[in-house]
Amino acid sequence: MSDAGPRCRSHRHPTADAGAGGTGAPPSPASPLLSPLASSADASLHPLGDVVVTGGAGAIGSRLVRRLLADGARRVVVVDTLTSGHAWLLPDDPRVELHVHDVVDIASLALSVHEPIVFHLAAFFANQNSVDHPFADLHTNGHGTLAVLHWAAAQQARVVVYASAGCSIAGHDTPGAIREDAPVSLHLDTPYQITKALGEFYCTWFGSSARGAHVRPLPTVRCRFFNSFGPGELPGAYRNVIPNFIWRALHDLPLVITGTGEETRDFVYVDDLVDGLVRSAHTPAAYGEAINLGTGRETRVIDLARDVIAACASNSPIVYAPRRAWDHAARRQADVSKARAVLGHAPAVTVAEGLQETVAWFRTHRAAIAAAVGVPDRAST
Ligand SMILES: NC(=O)c1ccc[n+]([C@@H]2O[C@H](COP(=O)([O-])OP(=O)(O)OC[C@H]3O[C@@H](n4cnc5c(N)ncnc54)[C@H](O)[C@@H]3O)[C@@H](O)[C@H]2O)c1
Repeated sequence: MSDAGPRCRSHRHPTADAGAGGTGAPPSPASPLLSPLASSADASLHPLGDVVVTGGAGAIGSRLVRRLLADGARRVVVVDTLTSGHAWLLPDDPRVELHVHDVVDIASLALSVHEPIVFHLAAFFANQNSVDHPFADLHTNGHGTLAVLHWAAAQQARVVVYASAGCSIAGHDTPGAIREDAPVSLHLDTPYQITKALGEFYCTWFGSSARGAHVRPLPTVRCRFFNSFGPGELPGAYRNVIPNFIWRALHDLPLVITGTGEETRDFVYVDDLVDGLVRSAHTPAAYGEAINLGTGRETRVIDLARDVIAACASNSPIVYAPRRAWDHAARRQADVSKARAVLGHAPAVTVAEGLQETVAWFRTHRAAIAAAVGVPDRAST
């Protein structure tokens, strides 16, 4: 896809900023970008340098952009095809530059950036989508990640923070809370898990000296996200369970559980996850590491469904469908001790609190969400 030049403002939705916070805020003296976060953080990282966020118009990326602006970033360059992202999720702020462009081809943008911090979140999302479209998955998550790392190395990037996935790497046979040093599985369940793992391999290679003695290793942090939820994520066939539950609950339609409802996941509120990303960029002790970003708490899907119905004051019934063929993980939970020890990161928002915020965001943006994804089909339970 070709780039039409920076065009964030022309794509802005009139209601995009309501209730989202962080837009155009002046630098806060307590900002993590302006002061060290933990004893291991390096205050010599210049707080006002260039920041590039690939996938910055997506669910998590758009919240990261808001956080970076609130922290006083001088300029945030977003590279996003808007395939699953939306320009209206971005704040209306002159410091944000949106380039509608494929990361596979990031070098052709000729971005004028100096030793940027790069957050690489652009992705073909997620498991079922990759089962249905494995080549598109490889294009963005495989080739795209290689292209971003190659470009970042050429720009002498200070660090690349890579969005990996807690469902990848260790596969589904991991008992208990998943640690970062769990053995790497050769039996992953979806192309998405395979290409997220591939991205990690590329990160470690670019961070090593194996590219040659004359080449500076590129610092990378591999952040393994567990199930993110919160404002900014729209519902859809390939999206996570929470936005789909909320959207259906707001229409009093059945909430469809694929499985028994006893399955658990580690749901992390998006702004907590974003805090882990920002800390990762500014903590040299994290460079070269994989770090889980979750909560360490399990939530049963049946409990989640009931909580969503309550939060939406909905009359939706709960119905069941067979678990998807690739979905073998009955339980999933992050071990977050490394994030706490290395980053000083501790998630602050409970699932119940996060649901309230998310439902409020859905109500505020109901018209924009309906315009983007339509209303749920009553027949599709
Ligand atoms: N949401 C989760 O629960 C979760 C869990 C684990 C990992 N992750 C990872 O976190 C990152 C962000 O996830 P998200 O939930 O915000 O997803 P998202 O789909 O909302 O965001 C991805 C963004 O990438 C953009 N994009 C897609 N293909 C592109 C391409 N070729 N070039 C440039 N941009 C492209 C999309 O338009 C979108 O804005 C992804 O890398 C995802 O794999 C998310």
